[in-house]
Amino acid sequence: MSANITVLHHPLIEHKLALLRNRDTDNKLFRSTLEELSYLLVYEITRDLPLQPVRIHTPLAPCEVQQLADPILLVPVLRAGLGMVTGILDLIPSAKVGHVGVYRDEASLCPVEYYLRLPPDAAAMRTFLLDPMLATGGSLAHAVELLKTKGGITNITVVTILAAPEGLDALHAAHPDVTIYTAMLDQRLDERGYILPGLGDCGDRLFGTV
Ligand code: PRP
Ligand code: URA
Repeated sequence: MSANITVLHHPLIEHKLALLRNRDTDNKLFRSTLEELSYLLVYEITRDLPLQPVRIHTPLAPCEVQQLADPILLVPVLRAGLGMVTGILDLIPSAKVGHVGVYRDEASLCPVEYYLRLPPDAAAMRTFLLDPMLATGGSLAHAVELLKTKGGITNITVVTILAAPEGLDALHAAHPDVTIYTAMLDQRLDERGYILPGLGDCGDRLFGTV
């Protein structure tokens, strides 16, 4: 696997994924679990963020400390990516939040774009593109393309919860410069393009639109 792709392993991640996968988990528990899982991912996905020295005074003495060097941008892919924002913002409250609206046409499985809103200075930001589901990879590949071409963003990290091998390969092939984190690599896609064993339709389970 490419150095740009990381599959995270942690007992708490596994435990929360078990709740998300279970069809008996209701919308309320699904939402809170996705939020908690996203919170857990932050420590890993921010491991290489650059720091810069800053001179401050403690109550006892002047001292040089390290602070994050770059502004951070979170971009959830609507709708399901919204479920990951709060958990990450809890740990990085200074992050800005953009939005990209892309859905997957149910018949063709091709991405359909309908919304993009980014801060004006997005190009300078270290950007985390959030979508729990990486199935064929079409939606995320399209969203990355939008961030690059319309936002001028060069430093993009995709954060996803479940990935199918087919989608991971497709996204990496389309954007080899992009770093990808996933909480789990599942088995494969089914004939309708759903991740197996997966967790079903994430947006529907999150917002109760099943
Ligand atoms: C889901 C999911 C991804 C996409 C993944 O969104 O949140 O964006 O499907 O599939 P892909 O990798 O094959 O493109 P969906 O299209 O269901 O939109 P929704 O969240 O608005 O319901
Ligand atoms: N989108 C989802 O929400 N779930 C899948 O399994 C595939 C695409």
